[in-house]
Amino acid sequence: MASGWRGILGFDYGIVQAPLGPDISGPELAAAVANAGAIGLIRLPDFPAPDYVREMIRKTRSLTSKPFGAAIVLPFPYGENLRVVLEEKLAVLQVYWGEFPRERVEEAHRAGVKVLHQVGSLEEAAKAKEAGVDGIIIQGREAGGHVIGQEGLFPLLPRVVDLVSDSGIPVIAAGGIVDGRGYVAALALGAQGVCLGTRFLATEESFAHPIYKEKLTEMSCTDYTNLFGRARWSYAPHRILETPFYTGWKNLPDQETEESQPIIGQSIIHGVHNDIHRFAGAAPNATATGDVSRMVMYAGQGVGLITEIIPAGEVVQRMVAEAKAIIRERLSDFHLDQSRLPSHTRIPLELLARSCRGGEQGKNTKGTSTVLFPGPPL
Ligand SMILES: Cc1cc2nc3c(=O)[nH]c(=O)nc-3n(C[C@H](O)[C@H](O)[C@H](O)COP(=O)(O)O)c2cc1C
Repeated sequence: MASGWRGILGFDYGIVQAPLGPDISGPELAAAVANAGAIGLIRLPDFPAPDYVREMIRKTRSLTSKPFGAAIVLPFPYGENLRVVLEEKLAVLQVYWGEFPRERVEEAHRAGVKVLHQVGSLEEAAKAKEAGVDGIIIQGREAGGHVIGQEGLFPLLPRVVDLVSDSGIPVIAAGGIVDGRGYVAALALGAQGVCLGTRFLATEESFAHPIYKEKLTEMSCTDYTNLFGRARWSYAPHRILETPFYTGWKNLPDQETEESQPIIGQSIIHGVHNDIHRFAGAAPNATATGDVSRMVMYAGQGVGLITEIIPAGEVVQRMVAEAKAIIRERLSDFHLDQSRLPSHTRIPLELLARSCRGGEQGKNTKGTSTVLFPGPPL
């Protein structure tokens, strides 16, 4: 359990802010997450825009001195944008929806960039392991946004953990996790980190449209569909809020796509003006105008637990504090709060560390009066 608190990939915590398209996880969100000690990711454009990408990185660096990363979606042209990530030597590159072979991973490593691959199945995880990635994000079907896998996170996660156990590659759980309870559950299943999309979407720094954020705090039902963006990203399934608009149209015949539909609004995505057609895959970012309530609103199954828009740094702080409290107060029979003991009965921390099976947990809690350890009660 202690490994969850050591952080991963050199970061303070194993909490990853999922990349959020279109243009929703920009410099402000990634920097706020980085400043809180977690892994912030700017979502790069789906078209070649190297100068724009360099500008995004520059802006993020002006908001944080901490390391952060960038993310690409593999079915779209990414070569030129990737080159900038490597030139700028970002801490992390996150990739999704496709293969990222060993040569690519080695190229990133030569630039000092660590690779996180988000996958949705055991087979894909095996390929990522083979390619030598630095972390595998395993996405369950509960996840918001486009969903590559078919399986629930809980049955899938421990299988991936077992698969990579001989490699030391950290496994990061994604899908439906929004608080410390989800964090602890993932750690218990063998993950070393968690990746949250919907929770970070509903933060002050996310670039989602205010109406979209409001719906995230009000609604709790989601559905898994292929209704939106069929022409642009061929029938890629996604999880969305069950808005009244979606409910009215969810049985649209398969051959219908957004291409022949009326325009319902506009938005600027990575500096480019776009008309938003009905059933388009572009969720409303803060620049969206028109009939925002009829635009797609991606969300994971954990959305029912989200009731307020808070700063992204607070999401990280709350997750860690909640998870620690759960482990301390509910999951450990061997909890010992020395501050409550008379001073002559307190046990030196060095002795406790030695009495722990494995000793690791004792070391981690040095300097605090509360000690968690898996050994027999003293
Ligand atoms: C609005 C939104 C946009 C997303 N965009 C991306 C993306 O561009 N790239 C990516 O790898 N994942 C994307 N995802 C999926 C996340 O990486 C992650 O798997 C998911 O958010 C985890 O589930 P959760 O939303 O329940 O936390 C997106 C998710 C949401 C909600």
